[in-house]
Amino acid sequence: MSILIIGANGMLGKDLVQVLRGSSFEFLGLGKSDLDITDLKAIENKLLKVNPSVVILSAAYTLVDNCEDQKELANSINGDGAKNVALVCKKIGARLLYVSTDYVFDGSKDSSYVEEDLTNPINVYGQSKLLGEKNIQDILSDYLIIRTSWLFGLGGKNFVESILKRGQKGEDLRVVSDQIGAPTNTKDLAVAIVKLLRNDTKGIINISNSGECSWQEFAAAIYSEIGLDESKVASISTEEFGAKAPRPKNSRLSSERFEKVAGYRLRDWKEALKDYLEHRKSSTISK
Ligand SMILES: NC(=O)c1ccc[n+]([C@@H]2O[C@H](COP(=O)([O-])OP(=O)(O)OC[C@H]3O[C@@H](n4cnc5c(N)ncnc54)[C@H](OP(=O)(O)O)[C@@H]3O)[C@@H](O)[C@H]2O)c1
Repeated sequence: MSILIIGANGMLGKDLVQVLRGSSFEFLGLGKSDLDITDLKAIENKLLKVNPSVVILSAAYTLVDNCEDQKELANSINGDGAKNVALVCKKIGARLLYVSTDYVFDGSKDSSYVEEDLTNPINVYGQSKLLGEKNIQDILSDYLIIRTSWLFGLGGKNFVESILKRGQKGEDLRVVSDQIGAPTNTKDLAVAIVKLLRNDTKGIINISNSGECSWQEFAAAIYSEIGLDESKVASISTEEFGAKAPRPKNSRLSSERFEKVAGYRLRDWKEALKDYLEHRKSSTISK
């Protein structure tokens, strides 16, 4: 089985490359300069040449706040880009794994979201990723949509790095405490995705680290892990913080389907955070 990763230079993409390097799979990773997913002809040329049996589409326009003013760009990469890749996968008979997001939901549910729950994205980024999901579902039968949440990884800018930077300056923080979700280490997600390559699960599947927290609790845990006083991390509301893009209050994804299919659950986000902090100094993955 040969695997093609599109978006291999992104935060998750880099971990997918690392995990696949340690596996028996044949694979190729392409960055944006190798393949732009808004260019259907280029995808056709590349995929016909590489002829993968599975394509993992991790590439996306992921700047959630910027998407609010760049709807066309977000839709062209996250929506039409996914459609282009799906069309070519259909042509060559490849299976498509598409990485999607908790932001396809509006956050009004008071428990974890399961795969069948009604989507209703409240920001442009979520709408564009849902468009990508729908395009894939319209074109392919052999696809897997992997919804995940709150990613942090050694290969990219992320919330943990922002908090560490501010912690190193000894700053007092005000962090949103009325959005709840599950931080997910991209290393754990990459391992999970590679596990799913070995079975032919189809449809939609949620994957995130276990447990849940607010952004404020996440930031406080980071402060505590590096020996800073958690009380320096105060709570503020989403409204007070005033980000450009609205975000769901509840981003929790139930990983029950993944646990049944894969036979294990991802570790708790706190353990995944500890692991990240232990490895960030010695990591050879570039940001
Ligand atoms: N980050 C999160 O918290 C989060 C949460 C839930 C789901 N997700 C989803 O998880 C996946 C991976 O996220 P991530 O955080 O690893 O993203 P990331 O670090 O932003 O990586 C995305 C990659 O896509 C590439 N890309 C952008 N436009 C492209 C185009 N037109 N053609 C080809 N490549 C293009 C980017 O290249 P350049 O850098 O060169 O532009 C970048 O390397 C995404 O699908 C995202 O929607 C992310």
